[in-house]
Amino acid sequence: MTSAPLVAVTGAEGFIGSHLTEALVATGHRVRAMAQYNSFSSYGWLETLPADVLAEVEIVLGDVRDPGSVRGLLEGAEAAYHLAALIAIPYSYQAPHSYVDTNVTGTLNVLEAVRQLGTPRLVHTSTSETYGTARTVPITEDHPINTQSPYAASKAGGDRLADSYHASFGTPVVTLRPFNTFGPRQSMRAVIPTVIGQVAAGSREITIGDLRPTRDFTYVEDTARAFLAVGTAPLEQVAGLTFNAGTGGEISVGDLVRFIGKVMDADLDVREDERRVRPANSEVMRLVADASRLHAATGWSPAHDLEQGLAKTVAFFRDPGNLARYKTDIYNI
Ligand SMILES: NC(=O)c1ccc[n+]([C@@H]2O[C@H](COP(=O)([O-])OP(=O)(O)OC[C@H]3O[C@@H](n4cnc5c(N)ncnc54)[C@H](O)[C@@H]3O)[C@@H](O)[C@H]2O)c1
Repeated sequence: MTSAPLVAVTGAEGFIGSHLTEALVATGHRVRAMAQYNSFSSYGWLETLPADVLAEVEIVLGDVRDPGSVRGLLEGAEAAYHLAALIAIPYSYQAPHSYVDTNVTGTLNVLEAVRQLGTPRLVHTSTSETYGTARTVPITEDHPINTQSPYAASKAGGDRLADSYHASFGTPVVTLRPFNTFGPRQSMRAVIPTVIGQVAAGSREITIGDLRPTRDFTYVEDTARAFLAVGTAPLEQVAGLTFNAGTGGEISVGDLVRFIGKVMDADLDVREDERRVRPANSEVMRLVADASRLHAATGWSPAHDLEQGLAKTVAFFRDPGNLARYKTDIYNI
């Protein structure tokens, strides 16, 4: 490892966390990266990063539900990026306690460690799901919070704790609120990898949930740059604030599937799978971002449109080595 500034990342072995880790190293940081403790000593997607990136990454197994584990991760770090979370909405119907433990208590543990250690900056991760179905579009940060799933509620709980720590203790926390992110390494729980993965595995009959909801899809490298933007902007411009990260574009799931078929040159037969359809009041029907606050504070704007992002994602899933890491034939919740 070099003597570059050290930053800590929770959820580093996951989809967005592994891209953020790469982006941090590419911009001259050393990363202490938490992968969730497991008996296989698996480092998740961090294991697939190039050796020159890993040379700047110290991987530690730990758990955000454990205060000591979080404190050890943050010791000596100049900034912390908190991405660890349980993220699947369907699984939050089955195991809501674990969502509170991870997303609420886990965030509290991170905030307490930042407070006790005097960590100079924390970037906390929210989600557009906390807005619920859009009442006004595009959605600004002042849009009401309406949590329609236990997942969204647990994330909003973490957000409120972050706001309260800033108000109560002056904790230097900034909240990034990404809209739907997609790209290489995303799990099959999300719609884009579900469709691309099934097509790449040879299927033309695509099973999917509700086709009507609309989303604002952001390519993962752009989301990672949004994290870096709020993590490196002058603190006084971002501390205590929440920033949306999204493109401002909007597409329905049905149109998205047709678009993926076009990009992959495949004639798709789309079937709605009842198991994937959410309870009517829990499904968020419309999300589209107004990211002008982030743009004004940091200059961030997305570098990929949907087609460019999908092209990179398709290339990833068409690589047999990558596809072999997924179970394309089951419903991944
Ligand atoms: N993917 C999206 O579209 C999206 C959109 C908005 C916000 N987010 C947020 O971005 C963050 C990253 O999500 P992602 O899509 O990369 O999902 P992911 O599941 O790939 O990453 C989450 C990571 O957190 C880790 N984790 C879970 N419980 C943990 C625990 N108790 N201790 C330590 N680590 C634990 C998991 O192992 C996983 O690697 C999350 O906070 C999520 O809420 C994601």
